[in-house]
Amino acid sequence: MKGVILAGGTGSRLDPITRVTNKQLLPVYDKPMIFYPIEAMVNAGVKEILIVTSGASAGDFLRLLGNGEALGVRHLSYTYQDGAGGIAEAISLARPFVGDDRMVVILGDNVIGGNIVEPARRFGAQPLGAKVLLKEVENPSAYGVAELDGDRIVRFVEKPTDPPSNLAVTGIYFYDAQAFSLIEQLERSDRGELEVTDLNNAYLERGQMTHDVLDGYWADCGESIGHYLQACNLVAKHGANRIA
Ligand code: G1P
Repeated sequence: MKGVILAGGTGSRLDPITRVTNKQLLPVYDKPMIFYPIEAMVNAGVKEILIVTSGASAGDFLRLLGNGEALGVRHLSYTYQDGAGGIAEAISLARPFVGDDRMVVILGDNVIGGNIVEPARRFGAQPLGAKVLLKEVENPSAYGVAELDGDRIVRFVEKPTDPPSNLAVTGIYFYDAQAFSLIEQLERSDRGELEVTDLNNAYLERGQMTHDVLDGYWADCGESIGHYLQACNLVAKHGANRIA
């Protein structure tokens, strides 16, 4: 399985600290934000990683990470997203890297207390399709949210004003290579982006989406300055990427 880390975006919710740099290069406690998703992948044995970035600071990722060896990465690739086309568009840029393989996609601003070893194993045992990791949150309106019927997800909704549950879809997604053809069929949302929530709904409609609930804390640093601060404090207090 390949790893794809999305490290683009304008970081507008963290303005002005993202005005002259990329959000994923900011520190979270004692390390640059991008280190956390890389470590989460390496911990789960995913050591061939593609970083999708954008904007004027893209070259700084190369200066920071080099070939990735110091973080335990076997092969580190980089690609560039022109403009703000959304998460699903960024994933589509990984097609030549992933090929017919499977992938775990992690948003570069997501930090976790635990690890993804068990979900990755369960996804590996799945004959095909996708898996999302959910986490109970206090402010579901800020995220993609799962609508459930008992134990079954019936729909994903992006940033709902009236959330159907408090289960957020974290920025950790497992996909097979069908994702690339499904993304080709997506239409741009009102904000002009190809939405990851629409990709997840496409898998759901095919009956090929599973889910787990993430163990340990989950922090989306890009959500607001308050969440970013909270992430720094969680890492300082509990550490991150605990190995099983
Ligand atoms: C994105 C996704 C959202 C998901 C979140 C997790 O939102 O669109 O579905 O819940 O990441 O971090 P963004 O943070 O880009 O607004």
